[in-house]
Amino acid sequence: MAILIKGGRIITDSEDRIADVYAEGETIARIAEDIDPASVPDADVIDAMGKYVFPGFIDPHVHIHLPFMGTNAIDDHASASRAALVGGTTSLIEMICPGPDDEPQAAFDEWNALAQAGCCCDFGFHLSVVRFDELARTQVRALVESGQVASFKVFLAYKGALDIPDEQLLSLMEMARELGVIITAHCENAEAIDAKQQQLLAEGKTGPQWHEPSRPRSVEAGGVRHLCEFAERTGAHVYIVHTSCGDAVEQANAARSRGVNVFVEAVAPHLVLDKAYAERPDFEGAKFVMSPPLRDACEHALLWSGLASRDVVTIGTDHAPFKFHGQKDMGVDAFTRIPNGIPGVQERVDLVHTFGVCAGRIDLATMVDACSVQPAKIFGMYPRKGAIAEGSDADLVVYDPSFVGTFSVSDGLSQVDYCGYEGMERRGRAEVVVLRGCMVARDGHYVGGEGGGRSIPRALTH
Ligand code: URP
Ligand code: ZN
Ligand code: ZN
Repeated sequence: MAILIKGGRIITDSEDRIADVYAEGETIARIAEDIDPASVPDADVIDAMGKYVFPGFIDPHVHIHLPFMGTNAIDDHASASRAALVGGTTSLIEMICPGPDDEPQAAFDEWNALAQAGCCCDFGFHLSVVRFDELARTQVRALVESGQVASFKVFLAYKGALDIPDEQLLSLMEMARELGVIITAHCENAEAIDAKQQQLLAEGKTGPQWHEPSRPRSVEAGGVRHLCEFAERTGAHVYIVHTSCGDAVEQANAARSRGVNVFVEAVAPHLVLDKAYAERPDFEGAKFVMSPPLRDACEHALLWSGLASRDVVTIGTDHAPFKFHGQKDMGVDAFTRIPNGIPGVQERVDLVHTFGVCAGRIDLATMVDACSVQPAKIFGMYPRKGAIAEGSDADLVVYDPSFVGTFSVSDGLSQVDYCGYEGMERRGRAEVVVLRGCMVARDGHYVGGEGGGRSIPRALTH
């Protein structure tokens, strides 16, 4: 099995040059200005003239198996990973989200078995810790020491379901520091949200448009400040997921200037959509209910400029697919029962290219850095992933920047029944996607086999 990608413009965080890439087996064997196809007669030759060649993109924040808010997200590992691959994402990191009564080892086994059986792209996990008692402490340590887990997840939201009490959070962070494990965190304030939700519902404010007012920017910024204070006390490294607003980024910046190791993630919905979507009539706004919520459109510029300055280092999706009919409508009488989440694992790369690069908000190097290189580095996968280099996995995306189309649910491989970006102009498309030397997607279609995704070995880098 060999592939020769000829004449493309190789773009990484640090390189921008025309060259050929030759992959033999699962890895990149040679990069040179002109590799003669006759010298590699067994290779499939892909003409990449006029195209970009990117390292396979990595989505650092995805939900697939997600029992949550009385239902389960609709994708399985096959549908979500195929959607990812068609969109140019060759690796994803899924959140393992057990409930408060579940044990960490059993949760890991459950999620891992599903991914091993169905995932078509490569994968890793962040392990959510919702209860940190003696049993959890022993199991979590064992999962890290056996190399199965390299990052944790905590929720400072979802009171009574996923949130972790402060004293347990502190002791988890102490262990994370000792083991060299980074903590990814959903930063809001569960108590403040709960109180505001009850007040709004009591006033008869039950529609999806009240979701954002129930969890204002200050609640998110306060959550970031709180987590960073604990990071300062414990020395743990922290990664703030799905940061939606400038106030939250500022709190992270302030902590970083005090020496806290804090990384900030943006996700596609917060960069492109705004709270007006959640205000759409006839309950359509429910499609756009996620947490933290979509904000005022003026926050977009703050997040994009944070990316340009690298205060915000990664872009994920927070892919959390719940059907509009049959799942989102569980909250028709109360916005607090609308399953939170917006799908997007397929659309991310094109959204970032369209609304980031083509709009002049970030350059191509920043796009690759945020969507591939930094996720690989922060989560211990670099340079196996996130690089176009000899010896790296041959995860490659031949990208056509001149493609123009529209986002539509009809092109989606996710099982969800809507697209959050329906009808928006789309600039660019992954023309050919290669996973470990194998072509798996072409022109928006999945052409790979059943399963085949592998667990990614990860180093403890913190
Ligand atoms: O609304 C969201 N983000 N749903 C998925 C769960 C989470 O908080 O990440
Ligand atoms: Zn979250
Ligand atoms: Zn999430």
